[in-house]
Order: sequence, then structure tokens, then C-alpha cells
Amino acid sequence: MKEQIVICENLSKIFTVGNSEVKAVDNVSVNFEKGEFSSIVGPSGSGKTTLLNLVGTLEVPTEGRIIINGTDLSNFTRDELTNFRGKNLGFVFQFFNLIEGLTTFENIELPLIFDSVPYEQRKKAVDVLIQDFNLDYLRNKFPEELSSGERQRVSIMRALVNDPIILLADEPTGNLDSKTGRAVLDLFANLNKERGTSILLVTHDLSAAKRANRTLHMHDGNITFDMKREEMIPEEI
Ligand SMILES: Nc1ncnc2c1ncn2[C@@H]1O[C@H](COP(=O)(O)OP(=O)(O)OP(=O)(O)O)[C@@H](O)[C@H]1O
Ligand SMILES: [Mg+2]
Repeated sequence: MKEQIVICENLSKIFTVGNSEVKAVDNVSVNFEKGEFSSIVGPSGSGKTTLLNLVGTLEVPTEGRIIINGTDLSNFTRDELTNFRGKNLGFVFQFFNLIEGLTTFENIELPLIFDSVPYEQRKKAVDVLIQDFNLDYLRNKFPEELSSGERQRVSIMRALVNDPIILLADEPTGNLDSKTGRAVLDLFANLNKERGTSILLVTHDLSAAKRANRTLHMHDGNITFDMKREEMIPEEI
């Protein structure tokens, strides 16, 4: 059996707004394997982002537990979670979240600065990524000088610089035109295929979801469909 890098056991997340409660994630148990490229689709409000944020330790579960690479995060303090996240997880967002006053190099370097990695080591890690992905021409440019597709590629490099256990992407093509979006999805697919990067992708877009090797559907906080590509019959693909 393949290595389970993310184990979610009976996860629930309840948000309380005023007097009402929303069960955004409702008793979900799901695992993700090393090297897997999984996508989560589902209608707006079905709990996709909340589940991704639970895995990403950005939200703390109301019930249940998460184990990442053998580490049970249940009793971690907020600081321990921040430290764990910085060392072990990579994030890609719809609106890129690059820092405007920093160059491409400096944006990619940022997670390593937060992790107190010395400069020489940081420079080496960023240089390798910039070379591997042919982004040298963007090295000294600021985000405002980049196209949206270039911004998203830089933000993906930033997410990879700490060599994360898993790359978590929430609607990474949501702010891109379809051609640029496809190029970003090609990059994810290549990362997964060539480097074995484990990816969890949340998307509204069924055609984007189909680029993954496994697709989960969410509805009202539950996983209602979970299938690997190789198990699907042609009309499901
Ligand atoms: N911080 C929050 N406070 C209160 N309610 C929240 C919060 N975050 C999410 N919710 C609620 O939890 C439910 C699930 O939201 P979530 O953002 O996970 O859905 P989603 O599937 O990502 O939707 P979308 O496709 O629109 O991004 C929704 O009803 C939402 O309103
Ligand atoms: Mg969402």
C-alpha cells in the first residue's frame, strides 16, 4: 500500500455566526497518498475550501483529527501549527497573494526567511527553482510587472521552495483566462508526473478537476464521490 501522507479522521468544522451554526465539513474521513494528484469539486458552499484549510492547518477542526506524515496535529498550539505549516506545506491561491514590493526572487524566498533558513541556502533553493522552471527572465521583476499567468507561476514556485509534503491549491485558475489556466494546470500535472509532487486542488471547474488522478465531489460538507482515474468508466472521465 502507498504511503498515506494526509489522514483525516471524522473531521467536522462548525462555524458559528450569531445564533446560527454552519456545518461546513461534516464528519469527513479521507486519506491522501504520497504522489497523488487529487481534485475536489462541488457547488459553492459545499465545504471545499474549509476541508482544504483544515488539511492546511489554517483552520482547526471542531471534531476529528488530522495526521500529516505521521504527525498528529490535534494537540498543537497555534505557534506549533504555524511552524509546521511553514516547514511542510505549500499553498497556491486564486489571487496569487504575492507581496507587491518584493521581486520574483524575494517572493519565492519568503517561506524560507520565515523558517530562518540562512541566505546562501535560500539563494540556492530559489536559483534551482528559477532555473528548472525557466523563470530567470522574471527574477528581478515585481508582481505588478507580471502577467497573471506569470504571477501564478511565481506563486507556485513560492509554494514549492520548502519542498512541501503536499501542495494545496484553492481555485488556482479562478482568476486566469482559460488558456493561461490550462498552462497552470499543465504545470501542476508535470510537477506531479515528473517530480512526484503530491497535490490537492480545489476547483469549480470540472475540466480542471479532470487533470487530477483522483476526483472527490463535495456536497453539504460531505464527500459524495471519490474515485481514482484508473477506476472510472469512460463516461465518468
Ligand atoms: N469563516 C467562516 N465563518 C462562517 N461561515 C463560514 C466561514 N467559512 C466558510 N463558512 C461557511 O461554510 C460553508 C462552506 O464554505 P466553503 O468556503 O468551505 O465552501 P466552498 O465549497 O469552498 O465554496 P466556494 O466554491 O464558493 O469557494 C459555507 O456555508 C460558508 O458560508
Ligand atoms: Mg472555496
